[in-house]
Amino acid sequence: MQAIIDKLSSTATATRAEDIRAAFAADTNRFARFSTSLDDLLMDYSKCAVNEEILALLEELATATGIAEKRDAMFAGETINFTEGRAVLHTALRNRANTPVFVDGKDVMPDVNAVLDAMGRFAEDVRSGSITGATGKKITDVVNIGIGGSDLGPAMATMALAPYHDGPRLHFVSNVDGAHIADTLKNLAAETTLFIVASKTFTTIETMTNARTARGFVASALGEEAVGHHFAAVSTALDAVAAFGIPEDRVFGFWDWVGGRYSVWSAIGLSLMIAIGAEDFGHFLDGAHAMDNHFRAAPLRENLPMLLGLIGFYHRNVLGHASRAILPYDQRLSRFAAYLQQLDMESNGKSVTIDGKPVAGNSGPIVWGEPGTNGQHAFYQLLHQGTTVVPVEFMIAANGFEPELRHQHQLLIANCLAQSEALMKGRTLAEAKAQLEAKGASEADIERLAPHRVFSGNRPSITFIYDQLTPFALGRLIALYEHRVFVEGVLFRINSFDQWGVELGKELATALLPVVEGKTAPSGHDSSTAGLVASLLSRAG
Ligand code: F6P
Repeated sequence: MQAIIDKLSSTATATRAEDIRAAFAADTNRFARFSTSLDDLLMDYSKCAVNEEILALLEELATATGIAEKRDAMFAGETINFTEGRAVLHTALRNRANTPVFVDGKDVMPDVNAVLDAMGRFAEDVRSGSITGATGKKITDVVNIGIGGSDLGPAMATMALAPYHDGPRLHFVSNVDGAHIADTLKNLAAETTLFIVASKTFTTIETMTNARTARGFVASALGEEAVGHHFAAVSTALDAVAAFGIPEDRVFGFWDWVGGRYSVWSAIGLSLMIAIGAEDFGHFLDGAHAMDNHFRAAPLRENLPMLLGLIGFYHRNVLGHASRAILPYDQRLSRFAAYLQQLDMESNGKSVTIDGKPVAGNSGPIVWGEPGTNGQHAFYQLLHQGTTVVPVEFMIAANGFEPELRHQHQLLIANCLAQSEALMKGRTLAEAKAQLEAKGASEADIERLAPHRVFSGNRPSITFIYDQLTPFALGRLIALYEHRVFVEGVLFRINSFDQWGVELGKELATALLPVVEGKTAPSGHDSSTAGLVASLLSRAG
């Protein structure tokens, strides 16, 4: 494998692959050669530092690392999350073909379908008003209480699919900071509010603390006996849910083979389903299923997740780019980068290979982003002229949902395409000087100012275009990124499906709580931690 990576590096140098501007000048057909589609989803990677030689080597790398075999093992329910002894089968949750999927010899599809049906019944009953609050009033507000994968997926997707939102208002509470739930509850009436406690483990301190606060809110307004009418739960830990006092018919299960950050397709999506309805939630699953089929069947040069993962790896481990920016030109995808941060960084932010050895080279990059055009007026300066090259992933719909504002959508499109063009083309010193000259600047000013107006160009970007951000399109887009993370994880030779790196902080927070509560002395802590505790305690009101 290292030999192929070394060859990629020498080939990139020998073929001057990073001179993307020259590659466009030399080949008017470049877009056609380096773009591919799945139905209306177009992926243009022609503005990356790739050429036929690089792609051939990436294909060799894919074969040498056995991505296709490992992909098939995942879909087949093998225990690929070996550090936790689990299969990885979020794909079964959207297996709309309903073909059997076996875990330990048992077909999981009947259980998957049963939970989906139960969710559908509950969601539609809440939406229609046949399920009410304790006083018989219709539910107008639903609060999802969860964090990480039990929050980001439904929160991001609910915002993304706002045009399909015809159910009760949705709210998402995640942070243990009491401000989050306090600000949310301030505008809600217990009588008309339903809380969904979403936690795979049902032990997460943030979620359980917020759930208890919500319970108190309902109990103090309507009495203890009303609580059951105002709560539902989503979890794999059904005993813990029962202990919390949520009635059995309001509990929606899922399974340990669904990773938290891959769980939006499971009952964790209940809040989303209540917002958009069971039918559109089905279309969301259909979109992901379409991407699953494509990932399994399409040849590499037409396979979007394969290409996205291979190029991502090339950016990280051959060209050395430490981060990637996700820049949707779609206001409703405002939380998409945050969602991908968990998906990608919790999956591939690892230092140890599947053999327990240090990762050679780098594992996952830093993922960040904001929607365009807002980012243009904030951090794009660095993207264009900073000393660090950040590969960018743009995404934009051909059509918005506001036909009366078509002109605004045209402006959005123009901005998106202009940014990728500017990143690639840049502006040379000669061009900067000519521009100043055309504006009538003096010779001295041209010399002084032109260097500040130079853009290096050759900054890589990928652009995705889709018809419209429908539930189907969103499901397909998320699944694309899930599989990209999988491909990169194989190339990094890591287990993408555990998350031991979040444990230490949790353990230390638990140990620090009694100190912060003033119950025990800060002994055993470093002087910084002890000093900070003392400072905070001395100011406590
Ligand atoms: O702390 C990380 C994590 O375990 C994530 O992987 C998960 O999505 C999140 O916490 C929430 O976990 P749970 O759904 O069990 O409350």
